[in-house]
Amino acid sequence: MDNREVVARTAGFIEAKFLNEGSGHDWAHIQRVWYTSQALATQTPGVDPFVTELGALLHDVADWKFHAGDEEAGPRAAREWLNNLGVEEAVIQRVEMIIREISFKGVGVPTPMSTPEGEIVQDADRLDAIGAIGVARAFAYGGHKGRPLHDPAVAPIAHDSFESYKQNTAPTINHFYEKLLHLQERLHTPAARAVARQRHQFMEEFLAQFLREWEGEDVRAN
Ligand code: ADP
Ligand code: NI
Repeated sequence: MDNREVVARTAGFIEAKFLNEGSGHDWAHIQRVWYTSQALATQTPGVDPFVTELGALLHDVADWKFHAGDEEAGPRAAREWLNNLGVEEAVIQRVEMIIREISFKGVGVPTPMSTPEGEIVQDADRLDAIGAIGVARAFAYGGHKGRPLHDPAVAPIAHDSFESYKQNTAPTINHFYEKLLHLQERLHTPAARAVARQRHQFMEEFLAQFLREWEGEDVRAN
């Protein structure tokens, strides 16, 4: 099977698996990460497009958040799928590594990527967590988990271990302070940083307006 067909079959597999996902890990998210990864790859020297595309398509294949905290569920599912398609071992290993390393694990936990393809897929995934879509996804996730939008009595936490980050059940607004506002400075590629600027700015504006409305400041001003 040639590379083009491996990518097409993988896209079909993931589309079927994620079509009715309601937590913000839907097929549309995967498609955006796939498209963005391809665009970043063309602007970044020395990147293997095949590994990049497979990493983007498979990065959320079995997220630990939905597999009882099992961080190896994703790499394992990707290996099984690619192995069945006859993909060579070296490629499988690089895709597994992307899935293993991609997740945010708390603001105090560094998440370096060991390959340039991984840097691109992580950047693309993080670009989709900020900006207008990032705001929408955060509240979709919070709703899915039954969390309140905001509670001023619950202070954000600077998680310095993955364990503490994983156990977090805070209101959705806290997620901006615990993760989303930190993503811009953790991007790897200049191409992704350029895209992030406006998205980050939009999130700051969203938060300022949200808190103004929460306090009724704009109502009182009228
Ligand atoms: P990524 O796709 O960057 O690995 P995750 O899988 O952690 O991100 O999360 C997927 C989406 O759900 C992202 O948009 C993320 O911001 C959102 N999300 C994850 N955890 C929370 C949370 N505790 N509250 C609100 N949104 C969350
Ligand atoms: Ni993702």
